[in-house]
Amino acid sequence: MTARTRRRFLGQAGAGLGLAAAAGFVPTRFAIGQKAKLKIGLMLPYTGTFAALGHNITDAMAMRLAEAGNKLGGREFDIVKLDDESAPPKGKDNAARLLVREKCDLLVGTVHSGVVLAMAQVAKEEDKFLVIPNAGAVDLTRKGCMPKLFRTSFSNWQPAFPCGDVALKDGHKTAVIMTWNYPAGHDSAQGFKDSFTKGGGKIAKEILLDFPNVEFQAGLTEIAALKPDCVYVFFAGAGALKFMKDYEAAGLKAKITLYGPGFLTDGVLKAAGGAAEGIKTTLHYADDLDTPINKKFRADFKKHSTRDADVYAVQGYDTGTFLVQGLAAVQGDLAADKALIKSWEASKIESPRGTFTLSKSHDPIQDIYLRQVYSGEEKLLGVAHKALADPGTGCKMA
Ligand code: BEZ
Repeated sequence: MTARTRRRFLGQAGAGLGLAAAAGFVPTRFAIGQKAKLKIGLMLPYTGTFAALGHNITDAMAMRLAEAGNKLGGREFDIVKLDDESAPPKGKDNAARLLVREKCDLLVGTVHSGVVLAMAQVAKEEDKFLVIPNAGAVDLTRKGCMPKLFRTSFSNWQPAFPCGDVALKDGHKTAVIMTWNYPAGHDSAQGFKDSFTKGGGKIAKEILLDFPNVEFQAGLTEIAALKPDCVYVFFAGAGALKFMKDYEAAGLKAKITLYGPGFLTDGVLKAAGGAAEGIKTTLHYADDLDTPINKKFRADFKKHSTRDADVYAVQGYDTGTFLVQGLAAVQGDLAADKALIKSWEASKIESPRGTFTLSKSHDPIQDIYLRQVYSGEEKLLGVAHKALADPGTGCKMA
């Protein structure tokens, strides 16, 4: 933590901490030995556009940790939850609250790429582990990679890249891209462009909106005037739902094929109704993967949360598995950091999405599926790209 960050943080130390656990003093292992409780800082959005994503990650992770007897490497743990509101300007202070004020042993979070970039800076300054259960900021898998940073989700390039090929195979030659103007939007747009333009496709225009703006009308009017063969969008959560509804209401759905990474439909499928019907997306998860682990996971999550599982729940569950396996390997001793890094680097995660391993830049190598909405359900059409790894360009583990 820089002196400036520390000063900013101390100045606001009493404000707005949404702590769900850890009332009272929790001794560290240094005070009472190996069996002291671990303290996990869980930073996620629980309000705003991405609130539902944060809740599904949290609940599925809790479910997985409960399956493991609520112990990590033999140690009990407390989870300190903090609502990051998907607000990048608050990201550093929020991460510092968890690591410095609350003295959490490691950080888990978050959903929003802009916020995770801030978290990563603080985790680096404090020399703590950061496990990312969603945010796909590509930089953290490339130049900004670091030994104590691991991702159990995806880089934003991964689900986007195969989508360009899908659009080409469907016969489209021109596309308009529309997304939020923040790192995830840029990364996702780049993934689509990489494959679409390599195969001869042309990008007619990129339309950007500030996050979390959902005033899509001006962009939709521009799309109608440009008349591309197809549209590629990166939107998620409540923003994705509103976009699909507006796209249909603008009369574009029947005329210009809409594509996106599966964040467009995941978690909002029921609410979208007919507006989602027929949309093809690419993602590292599909609801109807016909495996025992996926079927059990979906049934268990429904029982546990009363909600349907989606990709965010899968990532929360896999983050739980990642913590369980890694900490078992070092018997709960986070100070054995070299051994923990080695163990996590060699991870094989049996996931509802399919088994995955990690790349050299600590990001999942995973299958990307092609899905399409039929009769209100997400249907698996096939594997769009087998065992896809982010290129990891420029990643040098210090
Ligand atoms: C991101 O900011 O990286 C992100 C947010 C929601 C869904 C997927 C990615």
